Amino acid sequence: MELLEAMKQRHSVRSYEDKKLDEAKKAAIQKQIDECNRESGLHIQLVTDEPKAFDGFMAHYGKFSGVTNYIAMIGKKGSNLEELCGYYGEKLVLYAQQLGLNTCWVAMSYSKIPGAFQVDSGEKLTVVIALGYGKTQGVEHKSKTVEKVSKVTATMPEWFKNGIEAALLAPTAMNQQKFTFSLEDDKVSAKPGLGFYSKLDLGIAKYHFEIGAGTNNFTWN
Ligand SMILES: Cc1cc2nc3c(=O)[nH]c(=O)nc-3n(C[C@H](O)[C@H](O)[C@H](O)COP(=O)(O)O)c2cc1C
Repeated sequence: MELLEAMKQRHSVRSYEDKKLDEAKKAAIQKQIDECNRESGLHIQLVTDEPKAFDGFMAHYGKFSGVTNYIAMIGKKGSNLEELCGYYGEKLVLYAQQLGLNTCWVAMSYSKIPGAFQVDSGEKLTVVIALGYGKTQGVEHKSKTVEKVSKVTATMPEWFKNGIEAALLAPTAMNQQKFTFSLEDDKVSAKPGLGFYSKLDLGIAKYHFEIGAGTNNFTWN
């Protein structure tokens, strides 16, 4: 499955089948995580067969069920940590979709289980991503318009519009879509809005934008 197709098919899934991750898929995700860690310097970890994080009041209140696998997004504290976690986490989310798995980004509705993952000194866990075989494929989210989240001074090039449309398919916390992409010459800048987790959302949306627009068409400002 192409990444563009994976982006269209991905929706958050909160209910999962009671089924272990296929060993080959697990190994493929681990390999992708290792590559992301090498490239970004993050300390992303795959947690499997761990039912406790999503077994508490918060998880049930948040309508999660059957979550026993998740990806812990961890890295060195710093002003760029959240955006980096968003960007590389979404890379893993779309890869999981390509493997036929479902996901949901989760900032609130889970408990931190001691020993399930390792947060070294100077590091922070930003968010986790639930992972597994969904009971459904989820549903399309309501979306803002292209105009609402973009700024261009001249006519909007096709590649830029494609990038924005891809960004609007991205998951954002509470579906807030509080980002703005601006174009000047062939330079694109992306700004987070005010809101919870908006820097994480921005990293996610930037990864989508790159896939939609094609990285050969522009450079980030
Ligand atoms: C950073 C981030 C944090 C999120 N945290 C939660 C959460 O705590 N609980 C939850 O049910 N969904 C959470 N979500 C999922 C969003 O609600 C979901 O992505 C959004 O409504 C858009 O729907 P979609 O992912 O199906 O496109 C989170 C999403 C992101 C990007």
